[in-house]
Amino acid sequence: MGTVKNNTSKTGLRITLDFNNLMAESAQGEGLTERELSGTAERARQILQEMQERRAQGQLPFMDLPYQRGMVKEIKEYARTVQGKYTDLVILGIGGSALGGITLHHALHPPFYNLLPPGERKGCPRIFFAENIDPDGFHGLLDILEVRTTLFHVISKSGETAETMAQFLIVKDLLVKKLGKKRSRENLLITTDAASGWLRQICRSEGLADFTVPQGVGGRFSVFTPVGLLPAALTGIDCEGLLSGARFMDGLCKRDDVWKNPAALLAAALYLLDVRRGKRMVVMMPYCDALKDLAYWFRQLWAESLGKKDEVGPTPINALGVTDQHSQLQLYMEGPLDKVIIFIAVKQYQKTLPIPRAYPGLEGLRYLGGHTLNELIAAERMATEYSLTKNRRVNCTVTLPELNAFTLGQLLYLLETATVFAGSLYQVNPFDQPGVEEGKKLTYGIMGRKGYGVKKREIKEGGRKFKKYII
Ligand code: PA5
Repeated sequence: MGTVKNNTSKTGLRITLDFNNLMAESAQGEGLTERELSGTAERARQILQEMQERRAQGQLPFMDLPYQRGMVKEIKEYARTVQGKYTDLVILGIGGSALGGITLHHALHPPFYNLLPPGERKGCPRIFFAENIDPDGFHGLLDILEVRTTLFHVISKSGETAETMAQFLIVKDLLVKKLGKKRSRENLLITTDAASGWLRQICRSEGLADFTVPQGVGGRFSVFTPVGLLPAALTGIDCEGLLSGARFMDGLCKRDDVWKNPAALLAAALYLLDVRRGKRMVVMMPYCDALKDLAYWFRQLWAESLGKKDEVGPTPINALGVTDQHSQLQLYMEGPLDKVIIFIAVKQYQKTLPIPRAYPGLEGLRYLGGHTLNELIAAERMATEYSLTKNRRVNCTVTLPELNAFTLGQLLYLLETATVFAGSLYQVNPFDQPGVEEGKKLTYGIMGRKGYGVKKREIKEGGRKFKKYII
């Protein structure tokens, strides 16, 4: 089994968006009419034009990332120089500084990549994402590593996120104790802002290997920067294929006709279904284990970009087919009519797994024999799609002809562009997250950071609890 699923040819590898079941013909009163969607055509054209203008002025740098060939070259060069040097790669980063890398890893490496013998990983290190700061979780990870042969890649755009910096301090201390100050540098790699932040200062003063998060690209839009691409390149993923897919999708997303532009269509339909039909929740449900984390990545992208002040914003939910047919589907099928489901389908899986014929006397098993797991998963997706639609539950399907770097690049770029487009429809800034700032300041206060004493007092007084309500 190869470790990397390669981009083969472009044509025929275009992902498709089937939005039949978002429309009134299929989902009756719950779907959109052609008239409603056409009604957004002019607004869509304006938004697309504004996006291209802002892009030309350098205000939407995430859109141009797929064209940064120099950046990929640099990343690949670094990966080449450290090839075979480390047994393990650990990413210290959280939120947008982790989710892109996690998505690429699970989508484009074979399942159970870390358990493969080194030869099957083509000399690439195992990879771990230490996103959370659960002390047991982080300790557990450090326990299983041979830190001397581990590369710790610290990723933080701001260079001051408490979680990442705390992890960094723990790791740094460990490395210095094991390897000494000088030698410990070889096990650290930093990706942060070019100029600002504490991490950049440390990086400069200690001469650590480093990469830069491009100016104006926030965490959740950073998958095509060293944030996502460096861990990918270090573990042998086809970065060029990803960017090539993203560029291909960029071409489709420039079309000024809402009916032909997948990002505009998806964003406009989800927006209209929210504000006109009360579909406040968007469920992303890939029928593919490797894309499970894509739904987590999308959840952050959609939530943090569109959920803003004055109670604006749809709620994204992640699910996995077929697993969650046995978990959440009952709610989607018969519960409130407040959801849109985005299925992600893969036409051609990497493997075909036949189901053996057996137990001819048992009708409940006999029908499975002679089919494949591929047929079963496709049948279950089709059945779920149809029964949801029959129950007036709006849904659409994005199909990847196969999962590889090129098709994943398309999908990621499509979802990023659709999110920014939706930001214009909701009239919010998709690139900020002021709502999470308050929690950070209160944390600083509790932890005794200089200048945040007021916050410490505030939470001490305002956060009082009544014993009578704790049982
Ligand atoms: O998408 C975002 O902007 C956030 O999720 C950030 O990525 C996250 O808060 C981590 O920030 P930083 O990269 O500055 O450590």
